[in-house]
Amino acid sequence: MTSAVTPAAALADVRSRRSRARRRSGYLVLALTLGLFAALYAALAPSQSAVAANGTALEVSRGRALYLVGCSTCHGLQAQGTKIAPSLIGVGAAAVDFQVGTGRMPLQRMGPEAQRKQPKYTQPQINALAAYIASLAPGPAIPAADQLDISKGDPARGGNLFRANCAQCHNFNGSGGALTEGKYAPSLYPSTSKQIYEAMLNGPEQMPVFGDNQLSPQDKLDIITFLKTTHAQADPGGFGLGRIGPVSEGLVAWLVGTGVLVFATLWIGARI
Ligand code: HEC
Ligand code: HEC
Repeated sequence: MTSAVTPAAALADVRSRRSRARRRSGYLVLALTLGLFAALYAALAPSQSAVAANGTALEVSRGRALYLVGCSTCHGLQAQGTKIAPSLIGVGAAAVDFQVGTGRMPLQRMGPEAQRKQPKYTQPQINALAAYIASLAPGPAIPAADQLDISKGDPARGGNLFRANCAQCHNFNGSGGALTEGKYAPSLYPSTSKQIYEAMLNGPEQMPVFGDNQLSPQDKLDIITFLKTTHAQADPGGFGLGRIGPVSEGLVAWLVGTGVLVFATLWIGARI
């Protein structure tokens, strides 16, 4: 018996082969598109690399130049301090990264308190300023990435430490609170892990210094882990994505959204 192929079966066969090919090329396009987006994102996303405690000579000289223009009028030509601003000798890279990274410095006008605002310098410039100040005298370094790895922190232990050491000023959940004499301990929601660590190292204004004798590096990491996990749970209006900032969060939403749309388009196309 010869295997008679009916025209209808042949047509169905051609159709299914064609749609299989179309589907395969669809997947290829999808993979390429997603790969392109991933590469784009990697190129645009801020790098999280930690800075070496002591910058290179080039960084120090860049930092000195930035310092002379932006900071010396208040802190003195040698960072020795003046009547209006304290000496920066020995404050360490961490203090500079905190003060400039949270936008507190440069102080725009002399007022009662330095406020968190949009930073005026880029992170490489801040690193240079920090390297210059660190070159004058040793002081607390900018914490390295592994000191901030909250996957190694214990949030429950951190919660206890936070309630014992920080909550009297910053509120039990870190949302901030009033102090005496009209002063205010700010909310810790906008702070990055690095800034929380640095604030403990420096104790800005009324905040006490929590050196490694008061709170060990593991204690500090546990506190940061507690704050980051409670704040992630308390995100109104969606996922916080680690609070990497509105641009990055928007970018992630855009990339994921586009990926889903591409996928949906190809899926619908493959079914016709
Ligand atoms: C308009 C004056 C002014 C300018 C400009 C200024 N600062 Fe300050 N800075 C102050 C005053 C006042 C304080 C102390 C009060 C405070 O912390 O709010 C201070 C505190 C600091 C501290 C904390 C010191 C400590 O003991 O922990 C650092 C670090 C610092 N400044 C760095 C800088 C850097 C870096 C620049 C330049 C980018 C700069 N400041 C520009 C006035 C100024
Ligand atoms: C005596 C009150 C007091 C205590 C206790 C205290 N802080 Fe603070 N903290 C402050 C004040 C005041 C500021 C604001 C300083 C400034 O603006 O220069 C501050 C600032 C901070 C910031 C910077 C917020 C930002 O803008 O990014 C962080 C982070 C922080 N504190 C964390 C802690 C942690 C963690 C503890 C406990 C280990 C703690 N603080 C204990 C009073 C306190």
